[in-house]
Amino acid sequence: MFLRNSWYLAAWGHELGDGLLARTLLNEPVVLYRGEDGRPAALEDRCCHRSMPLSMGRRTGNNLQCGYHGLVFDPAGQCIQIPGQTTVPPGSRIRSYPVVERWKAVWIWMGEPAKADPALVPDWWWMDHPAWRPVIGPVLPIAGHYELVNDNLLDLSHTSYIHGDTIGNLAQLEFPIRTERFETGVCMTRWTIDRPAPPLYQDIGKFRGNVDRWQIVTSTVPCFSDVHIGMVDTGLGQEEGVRRGGLEFHNVNAATPETERSCFQFYAHARHFAQASAEVDEIYARDFQRVFRQDVVAIGAQQKNMDVFRNAPQIDINVDAPGLALRRLIATALAAEARGETPLLRRA
Ligand code: FES
Ligand SMILES: [Fe+2]
Repeated sequence: MFLRNSWYLAAWGHELGDGLLARTLLNEPVVLYRGEDGRPAALEDRCCHRSMPLSMGRRTGNNLQCGYHGLVFDPAGQCIQIPGQTTVPPGSRIRSYPVVERWKAVWIWMGEPAKADPALVPDWWWMDHPAWRPVIGPVLPIAGHYELVNDNLLDLSHTSYIHGDTIGNLAQLEFPIRTERFETGVCMTRWTIDRPAPPLYQDIGKFRGNVDRWQIVTSTVPCFSDVHIGMVDTGLGQEEGVRRGGLEFHNVNAATPETERSCFQFYAHARHFAQASAEVDEIYARDFQRVFRQDVVAIGAQQKNMDVFRNAPQIDINVDAPGLALRRLIATALAAEARGETPLLRRA
């Protein structure tokens, strides 16, 4: 079961060129494209004539033409042309989804169109701000439920193990996490003070000694996580809000459900240091991709085992607190939607 009345990240803006993009979102086949006028559109990927996927057709101007018998649909899903006849029968339409392009991404509203308020799109302003340098990663197909991605991002203790050779080390485990709950999400904070930087950050930041490092993850219902990471030379009073030098970035994530057993992880890093460095761009594009692919493997393996050991008991540990809190909020929102209510998903 998925929350319908929410925005979901459907594609990065650069994925929509002249072609058609077929993507199953929340179990619904969708075709995404960019019209000649540059505006993105999303339609049900099914022709209302004989059910051919429209993604196998072609774009014509701002419209889509079915590749089977040539029916043409406008971005609102209305069939506007049928070859060889002058009339279009009533009911010749397919579903069109509200979309909005923001933060270099195309967002789709999967619920009631009248409720699609663009103000509810997560606020990823770093992605468009000149003081921050964004690097967008590849779309990662994940063979697991999207909430496993939420869990993964809200519990960064996994970086000590899965990513111990790059972005993690054991030092963080000496320091407790703090969990804050708010109406539509959860915030996890961990400060690791006066400890060595993890290997990859050591390379990027060229730190001489120990660092103070922060990890602040803000996740909102149903599947958006902002992972705010930074570190500076220790002893500068960073925790009191002073930042001099060091490195800082926001890793933004959207885990868009595909099916109950799969999702797409969209991720990007927007950094507030070395903004002009092609070398650091390359590190984010290459090394972080390797890191994220380690999670893809882990989550796929988790899901596989969860399917095999269906009712096996699991235990919870301290670091699960933020993930469990988000799961409760999602469950509450789903229950509200099932009662016919629309939970108000204000952005963080
Ligand atoms: S199936 Fe699309 S035009 Fe016939
Ligand atoms: Fe990870």
